[in-house]
Amino acid sequence: MADLTNPEKRMLSAMQGVKKKWTLEEVLSACNWDDQAVAVGAGHGLSNNGFVKIEETSNTSVILGSEGEKAVKDGLLESRIWSWILKNNNPTMKELSDSFERHESGPGIGLLKGLGVKIEGGAFSYSDPENITKTIEERTEFLNSPSLDSEYYQHFKGRKNLIETVEVISRRWSITDAGMDISSDDLAEIVTIAEITPELLQSDEWKNAEFRPYDVALEASTPRTGRSHPMQALIERIRQVFLEMGFSELVDDYVQTAGWNMDALFIPQDHPAREMQDTFYLDNPRSIDLDPELLSQWKAIHEHGGDTASTGWGGTFSEEISQKGLLRTHTTVNTIQYLARNPKDPCRVFAIDRVFRKESIDRTHLPEFHQIEGIIMEPGANLGMLVTTLKTFYEKMGYPEVRVRPAYFPYTEPSLEVEVKWRGKWLELGGAGIFRPEVTEPLGIEDPVCAWGMGLERLAMLVLELDDIRQLYISDLEWLRNQPIL
Ligand code: PHE
Repeated sequence: MADLTNPEKRMLSAMQGVKKKWTLEEVLSACNWDDQAVAVGAGHGLSNNGFVKIEETSNTSVILGSEGEKAVKDGLLESRIWSWILKNNNPTMKELSDSFERHESGPGIGLLKGLGVKIEGGAFSYSDPENITKTIEERTEFLNSPSLDSEYYQHFKGRKNLIETVEVISRRWSITDAGMDISSDDLAEIVTIAEITPELLQSDEWKNAEFRPYDVALEASTPRTGRSHPMQALIERIRQVFLEMGFSELVDDYVQTAGWNMDALFIPQDHPAREMQDTFYLDNPRSIDLDPELLSQWKAIHEHGGDTASTGWGGTFSEEISQKGLLRTHTTVNTIQYLARNPKDPCRVFAIDRVFRKESIDRTHLPEFHQIEGIIMEPGANLGMLVTTLKTFYEKMGYPEVRVRPAYFPYTEPSLEVEVKWRGKWLELGGAGIFRPEVTEPLGIEDPVCAWGMGLERLAMLVLELDDIRQLYISDLEWLRNQPIL
């Protein structure tokens, strides 16, 4: 048997009871429905299955238009003006315009003329008032029960919005032999479940219930619920990837000294990156005291290489410069301090944090941005391990094509640049390398340290397909709503 819906079953079973032509009202009351669309829909379904025949007749009928409804409530315009004339005992045209609004007095006079009222010298005259009253009464009667057959139909058809004609389809349904043959067992209605609730799951009811099928191809509106900002979601995903790879997270302050931000990393004190255009030096704290022993170690390394085999940068190292307060320009300032605290324990550490540089804002630059930083310190750590780690990271982020190129940083040797392929082009995403002895030896580190630092916003631009980095921070709600779930 064909699959019948519950309304179809109910309608068919009602019709099996009495063999006749069913009107809409009869179907509604037999099925206990008040929505005629349900009855019409069920009737169509049954007719498509051949269980019911539909007879449709279409009739034209007259109904009131918007002005017609007003006229029934307040009286027809000609009726109101005519009563006013009779009551006021030969009023003038001027009085008429004073008593009725312009949009009524104008058309009203036209209607009166049509009824045989004459206007002479600003006054009204008529010969057969009873007849005028009678015509107006008949017009009012017509509006109370408009009909196509009335002589007034033509009259009102010529007036704006008083009446409308509509096509009314009336249907009658009768059961076919095939419909009679359906057994009443097959017409038992099945409760279909459209919503799964905790109560339902706790009871046993769901076991025999039918579930309403979902049409996954239907259009649905996107729910507007709160969710993480795409940057936060991306940070979360990166964090997840590093945690999976066995790293632990490091979180540290962004107010730092030039000493840790640069001297510890063997960045020469006269290096261009130290100049004002790159680094935000602080007025408060203008200076932060550093351990004198640390300062003298850095001084030795910078001036002549200290106890390492290096010859250093030469010149004179300034402890005052070293103690200047600044906003960190890279997160390497935090990883190097982590190593200084834990020089002997092999580790894998990452940080995703904010850094600051004096950049003018444009499509690809912001003065505040984030770096994805990481280090691996362990016996035998080497360049191959570093490259593999970075490749694995980008692969997990969805960018399997990664290459490295030689680069220069004062604190690493060898140094490299990491690039990923995106839409056929290689894009530079960050730097990496193995920390130089000038960096590791004074801290007592013996194992090699692989290190890298990459731009988070750059990666976000790839992931979110942005042309302009500023889009990330302008809180454009429409854009935010349409971002993919990362
Ligand atoms: N700190 C570097 C930067 O800010 C990146 C880097 C980190 C390079 C670690 C090598 C090693 O660009």
